Amino acid sequence: MIRKYIYGTPFETEAVTRHIDSETSAPAYGSISTENGFAFTYTMDDDDIIYGLGEANRGINKRGYCYISDCADDPNHTEDKRSLYGAHNFLIVSGKQSFGLFFDYPAKLTFDIGYTRMDTLRVSCENADLTLYVFDGDTPDGIVKQFRSIIGHSYIPPKFAFGFGQSRWGYKTREDFEKVAQGYRQNHIPLDMIYMDIDYMDSYKDFTLSSEFKDFPEFVREMKNQNIRLIPIIDAGVKIEDGYDVYEEGVKNRYFCQREDGSDFVAAVWPGDTHFPDVLNPEARKWFGDKYRFLTEQGIEGFWNDMNEPAIFYSPEGLEEAKEMARRFSETGTGRWDESTSETDGEEAVGLWQLNDKLGSLANSAEDYRRFYHNTGSQRIRHDKVHNLYGFNMTRAAGEAFDRIDPDRRFLMFSRSSYIGMHRYGGIWTGDNQSWWSHLLLNLKMLPSLNMCGFLYIGADLGGFGSDTTRDLLLRFLALGVFTPLMRNHAALGTREQECYQFENTEDFRHVIGVRYRLLPYLYSEYMKAALNDDMYFRPLAFVYPEDEMASRIEDQLMLGSEIMIAPVCEQNGKGRYVYLPEEMKFIKFLPDGTIYEEVLEKGVHYVDIALNEVPLFIRAGRCIPVADAAECVDEISMDTLRMIGYKGAEYVLYDDDGVHKDYDLAKNCRTLKF
Ligand code: GLC
Repeated sequence: MIRKYIYGTPFETEAVTRHIDSETSAPAYGSISTENGFAFTYTMDDDDIIYGLGEANRGINKRGYCYISDCADDPNHTEDKRSLYGAHNFLIVSGKQSFGLFFDYPAKLTFDIGYTRMDTLRVSCENADLTLYVFDGDTPDGIVKQFRSIIGHSYIPPKFAFGFGQSRWGYKTREDFEKVAQGYRQNHIPLDMIYMDIDYMDSYKDFTLSSEFKDFPEFVREMKNQNIRLIPIIDAGVKIEDGYDVYEEGVKNRYFCQREDGSDFVAAVWPGDTHFPDVLNPEARKWFGDKYRFLTEQGIEGFWNDMNEPAIFYSPEGLEEAKEMARRFSETGTGRWDESTSETDGEEAVGLWQLNDKLGSLANSAEDYRRFYHNTGSQRIRHDKVHNLYGFNMTRAAGEAFDRIDPDRRFLMFSRSSYIGMHRYGGIWTGDNQSWWSHLLLNLKMLPSLNMCGFLYIGADLGGFGSDTTRDLLLRFLALGVFTPLMRNHAALGTREQECYQFENTEDFRHVIGVRYRLLPYLYSEYMKAALNDDMYFRPLAFVYPEDEMASRIEDQLMLGSEIMIAPVCEQNGKGRYVYLPEEMKFIKFLPDGTIYEEVLEKGVHYVDIALNEVPLFIRAGRCIPVADAAECVDEISMDTLRMIGYKGAEYVLYDDDGVHKDYDLAKNCRTLKF
């Protein structure tokens, strides 16, 4: 049962695609206040578990902390952070009473989940203008299914996008890319994509190419001949530069976000001063989307959309204020933290801390998000009131354009910032993580939560983006990445080079990534079934074993599809790990010599050895999965080599298609494989 409640005058976010009549009564769960803004309050039972919130910090069970939906360009995902890049306002209360909640609200929304008071769930925001959806259901899985049924099907990428990709901020020249291709091909480490970060552009201008690329279509072809796709980045900000067509067209047609006085808002990002395309305006969205043609016409088949919270390093207004404060500090301040209370020559003194705060908050400041407006065609709205929709609509611009460019073909697209609804147009990567073991675990925990919110094509920067990685961390990250639909190694400028061939014993990387390709027919099949049936690809154990109390406590293992469970090693120097089996399972290890180790383990807790160059998984009792022979790219995976592993006598329904077009007929594309 799905119920819809409208408060005030909500902004139409287009997250929900199905019409539902709204109710006039109060929701059956919790209480609502619309007095000072909006608040939903519910008293949680001791044993209630709260699932959801998609890309968010901390655990699969979100209890015990406060999270804020406020898309943020913050690369330091320490435990205290409340906002990451996405805003996914769906959660499930599972326990004494089980129900789901979706707060369709595009501005800042606070989820206090037992933080202020351990028994109280309070969801609140400043303006009581929102739509609340309430989902009744017996199981969390059933609640997710209902939610997914109203937000539209998840995005499906081309099959090559299930291969492994290498990325790094800093590749500039054709030779840089060729070196990466060579490093992988010569070492026979599988590879399907090389990502192009901002340096491929001319002065970081979207839809341009730097002079390093003389004959770009020929370069794209040369790479494709090696079965490698180039995947360029597109940033939100359009550089202000006379003579640059995207800038000039945007200004002429009023396609950029404007200040209150109607002038185009200026934000400094990578290219220096930029304007933001008003992607909430359908005309501007179409215009910006069509710009992707510049690259698709040269053979490009996929993109990643970045800096679309949108990230702002500073605005001219913010910079002026900071300069003014610095002036006052130099004239009146003494460096004492409490100096601001005194007065010098009639001017209030500025303390060192105040100045530090001002400088530190120049980037992504709430004030800047109040300085510009969107024109949706029917209304003018200040950015902060719809802040969380920017990344969604930038990606939608591209997704809608791809449908015009080639309606039958799939394009690869994923974004950094997102809101529910964007899952129809692209996937996401989880932004700038760090080369930390804790981030490997954090990523694992986000995966099922993201699936609940419709995001299926997901993955982290494997190896870690910021900080220097280590060989063992990269191998363990990859062993999780083997299972994430988006499998990409990406690192920041200035960090240790972390392409797999940079480390000793490259055969270990060949093997671990090779397992991805051996499992790809299964992983692709499970992805497609999840996408077409509005199901989850990753589930918490409790979703599959609702009667098993122990299963609900497990935060570092996941169910994948209907057949397997994964339990990656997330600790340095861990030579294995404890694992909980909610039923008998077959423990599988892909060994570096290409053979597969199998052992039946009883329900219960086990310690299993897992070497750095091994990939473990667990097949559920009575099930089986197909495994192919190793291949170096998706196109070379031979379906003729499929053989079954798991339980003899079991059957598996395999989905497969050409991976290029949109002919997704489940009945036509499925066949039963017997073991
Ligand atoms: C942002 C992105 C990162 C990219 C960098 C340079 O930090 O999150 O992935 O490498 O910008 O474009």
